[in-house]
Formats: sequence, C-alpha cells, structure tokens
Amino acid sequence: TESSVALIGVVTVSDRASRGEYEDLGGPAIVQYLTKVLTSPFEPVLRVIPDEESTVRETLIDLCDVHGCCLVVTTGGTGPARRDVTPEATEAVCDRMMPGFGEQMRRASLEKVPTAILSRQTAGLRGESLIINLPGKPKAIAECLDAVFPAVPYCIDLMN
Ligand code: MTE
Repeated sequence: TESSVALIGVVTVSDRASRGEYEDLGGPAIVQYLTKVLTSPFEPVLRVIPDEESTVRETLIDLCDVHGCCLVVTTGGTGPARRDVTPEATEAVCDRMMPGFGEQMRRASLEKVPTAILSRQTAGLRGESLIINLPGKPKAIAECLDAVFPAVPYCIDLMN
C-alpha cells in the first residue's frame, strides 16, 4: 500500500548491540540527524542486527523491496575486522554502486580522524532505494552525513 510518509530504513549492524550487550546509540543518532535535516515528515524503520552477511543482505532487501524505503542508512561493520561485512552485503544487494558517497565521507572524516581510511563504507542503488553505509561510531554519523546529505534528496529524486 502507498504510504504518504517516506519510510527510511535505519540499520545498526553490531554483534554486541544485537545481543543487548550494549545500547544501540547509532540508530537513534541517525534518526536524530534525519529529524534535524529533513523538512518533510518521515518514518524510520529501525533494525539492530548481528554482523552476519546473510542477515545484513536479507534486512536490506526487506527494507527496500517489502517496506519500500527510499533511503536505507546502515551503521557499523565497515572496518577491517573479520566480522565486518556490511559493504559486501551492500554490494551484493545493489544494482549499481555510488562510489562517490564512500569517497566523500572518507575524505571528510579524514579531516577529523586519521583512522577514517579504515572504513570501507560504500553506497548503492537497489531499485528505487538508496543505501548508504556509515561507520559504527556514533560520532561518525553526523561527520559522514554532513559530507553527503546535500546530494541525498536529489539522488532519490533522480532515481524515480
Ligand atoms: N569516520 C568518522 N567520521 N569518525 C570516526 O570516528 N572511525 C573509524 C572509521 N571511520 C571513524 C570514521 C574507525 S576507527 C574504523 S575502525 C572504521 O571507521 C570502521 O568502523 P566500523 O567497523 O564500526 O564501521
């Protein structure tokens, strides 16, 4: 059914947060950011899942294809650790990649922290949805989204 309010997927990818070992701070930080920058109303669809590639893939597919989210923002699982598989899952479900997002977010992040190059964060399109990866640190969320958000509504417009 058509929803009048845009749905936005917000996915925290973290083994420990998904087990309840610590509170998910990333998801709420993304919602807070979106509330601040978006002028039209939206409804977040929140997920907290483990660093399991198949789970990440299935979650992204569900948010894009079943819920019809125009935008899905993930946080976590972008680093070099063995369990970090968010970029692989993102690439697997996307029709086309949008490499400029990862490049720009890393460039902006490098001005804040030298470890920004450790993030393999990317972005891509699945159908009429834009998927954007962010690192897991809550403070990375605004640092990264500030760098790319001006292009996000335009990108979503062009896709439809
Ligand atoms: N980007 C920003 N803007 N701020 C940060 O603090 N942390 C980095 C990097 N990118 C960071 C950042 C670190 S320490 C890591 S390990 C990678 O993101 C990957 O983080 P993730 O595995 O939690 O996704």
